[in-house]
Amino acid sequence: MGQCVYQRVAVIGAGTMGNGIAQTFASFGAEVLLVDVNEDGLRKGVAAIEGSLARFVKKGTLPEADAKAVRARVRPSTRLEDVRDVALAVEAVSERIEVKRKVFAQLDAQCPAATILATNTSSISITEIAAATKRADRVIGMHFMNPVPLMKLVEIIRGQETSDATMQAIHACTSSLDKTPVEASDYPGFVSNRVLMPMINEAVFCLMEGVATRDGIDTVMKLGMNHPMGPLALADLIGLDVCLDILEVLHEGLGDDKYRPCPLLRRYVAAGRLGKKSGKGFYDYDAAPAKA
Ligand code: NAI
Repeated sequence: MGQCVYQRVAVIGAGTMGNGIAQTFASFGAEVLLVDVNEDGLRKGVAAIEGSLARFVKKGTLPEADAKAVRARVRPSTRLEDVRDVALAVEAVSERIEVKRKVFAQLDAQCPAATILATNTSSISITEIAAATKRADRVIGMHFMNPVPLMKLVEIIRGQETSDATMQAIHACTSSLDKTPVEASDYPGFVSNRVLMPMINEAVFCLMEGVATRDGIDTVMKLGMNHPMGPLALADLIGLDVCLDILEVLHEGLGDDKYRPCPLLRRYVAAGRLGKKSGKGFYDYDAAPAKA
């Protein structure tokens, strides 16, 4: 494994993305302070890191001693006040602008002037988050993909005031984590969700209009376009509520009706069919295996 350019980092939020980001930095030698306001969330985040490391050990891709060392480099905390002497803080709290702005204002007040503050947001404006600080030139989007330890891409998003030096520093940091940085501007959905979400939305329209069945739509995209999974299965994995939220951001932010969320997507979310995490979405995840 290579060595992260930063020795001390903080990751705020220990959920799906935060624990993966913390694990990745620690795997490349950084000391990581992992902060979550929710004690249970923090415990689950640490357990997720331990589980992921154990799977790497089992597969034979990580020696047990290294896994122990990675785990030892992650220090959990429930207090944002513990974030002090870090070169980089990566925020991965819930996708709510008011929560993120509060976290950034606090990080800005506590961290040394040189600390770069990055956000893992998938759709919120970097510029708006940066405006909650007095260091907008050192605020940047660092959009990791799920699952973080396995996915190679990091979208790096330049806010209105992000400096060239900050862009270069995060570019170098991403490369030092053995990931590939791609730069994007601060427009709704950046590149990844601007391209992905309309495809998922169109697949839901196809289902609603009866153009094909669920399995038919996913099979066309898998076998016809060589996608590893169909758009409806992928939507279930991401979370239908998350897909709807991002489509709303695209629709409102770009002002074009081509991003209008499909009514069937809205109906599923209203019914609590959120995809894999709720046990039901376009597919049924609770059902007992079908009898032969
Ligand atoms: P999550 O809901 O799994 O985790 C969020 C965590 O943040 C929770 O543990 C919560 O307790 C914690 N939190 C909330 N407020 C906090 C605060 N003020 N201080 C510290 N911790 C706080 O969410 P997930 O999925 O990990 O998403 C996090 C961010 O990453 C979001 O901005 C999301 O848009 C983005 N993202 C998510 C992806 C995904 O596939 N889930 C992919 C790429 C980006």
